[in-house]
Amino acid sequence: MADIQITNGVTSVGVLNPNMRVFDIVMPTEYGSSYNSYLVEGERSAALIETVHLDFFDEYLENLRRAIDLNKIEYLIMNHNEPDHSGSVERLAGLLPNLKIVVSQAGSLYLKNITNRSDLNLIIAKDGESLDLGGKTLRFISAPFLHWPDSMFTWLPEEKVLFSCDFLGAHFCEPTMLDTHLPERYRDGYFSAMVGYYGAIFGPFKPYVRKGLEKIQGLDIQYAATSHGPVLTKGGMLEKVMDYYRETSQPVVHEQPLIPVFYTSAYHNTEKLALAIARGIKEVLPQAEVTAYDLVYADPAETARLINECDGCMIGSPTINRDAVPPIWALLSHVDAVNFAKRPVGLFGSYGWSGEGVPNLRARLEGLKARLMPEDFRVVFVPTEADLEKARAFGRSFAEQIKG
Ligand code: FEO
Repeated sequence: MADIQITNGVTSVGVLNPNMRVFDIVMPTEYGSSYNSYLVEGERSAALIETVHLDFFDEYLENLRRAIDLNKIEYLIMNHNEPDHSGSVERLAGLLPNLKIVVSQAGSLYLKNITNRSDLNLIIAKDGESLDLGGKTLRFISAPFLHWPDSMFTWLPEEKVLFSCDFLGAHFCEPTMLDTHLPERYRDGYFSAMVGYYGAIFGPFKPYVRKGLEKIQGLDIQYAATSHGPVLTKGGMLEKVMDYYRETSQPVVHEQPLIPVFYTSAYHNTEKLALAIARGIKEVLPQAEVTAYDLVYADPAETARLINECDGCMIGSPTINRDAVPPIWALLSHVDAVNFAKRPVGLFGSYGWSGEGVPNLRARLEGLKARLMPEDFRVVFVPTEADLEKARAFGRSFAEQIKG
């Protein structure tokens, strides 16, 4: 990518990765992404805002050399140190031994272990501190858990640029680096990429998103120079994206308890238990929203949302190959581990031989610190009418626990 001037003294020097289709192993990236880095030039000094993924270091270096004499770069600001941003720090520091690297306290620990170097010239930035480059001021705003403990923003008041790292970002490849240049036909795609990114990265940290928005609400931001996707501009996509963050970070309040029953069933046996348990829950909480979801057919995005927003849930699996079955594990892989602690969960399932499925689920749910029912409900092969009555009682008991 060519160097692109964003505003006076601010140049985009990052790299595009249009072919990336999965980020961090789990996040689909239909529109590729970019590893953004910015050069800020003052009258006395110059600073880089973050680096790029190590795989793109050579291209990054070409961009830098086109933009500036490398020896003029005095500072590197690391708003966040995940390796998609810090991957090139060690190589860059090797080229520029006098480089001063500005990080948060937590970031300093991460960066030492990511680079495996203890001789980096680190400067710890505290909330509100600033750095004068000569007519260009970089002010550091602590923003922990957006989305790592190390995260911070950097505000450049003279140009009204907020360097927000992952915050407000999106995995989207826009070669011009400006949202105002997004072709109309790609605007919906950009927005869906931003929504997916928000859900995956910031969904678990909604209270911190609200705090982050509060910290920047007094700033007259003209440009949000994120570290993935195009720079957001006032009057372009910036307000729309910030509105989305504001709305979706509000706590979800249910008028009635939301208690989904998730299950899979090879021969309808676990399914019969699921339906009986759902009936039992409704007997105690008739207003509750209680739906049984066969995970083989349910929309995975919807069940992922439900398990994270529910007031409690039931999870049922048969045992195949001495384990719970893949659709159940896939659902649990979407659990927001930060906010799931103490969530009421009941486990059930039919099995034929040794029945490890449910105990394996219990071990995983204990790891997630769920509030598990003291006993699981298991049946060998086909549930009898008496078993189904016990399943209803199991559902009633679970509902009583939620009812408090
Ligand atoms: Fe783009 Fe959290 O790294």
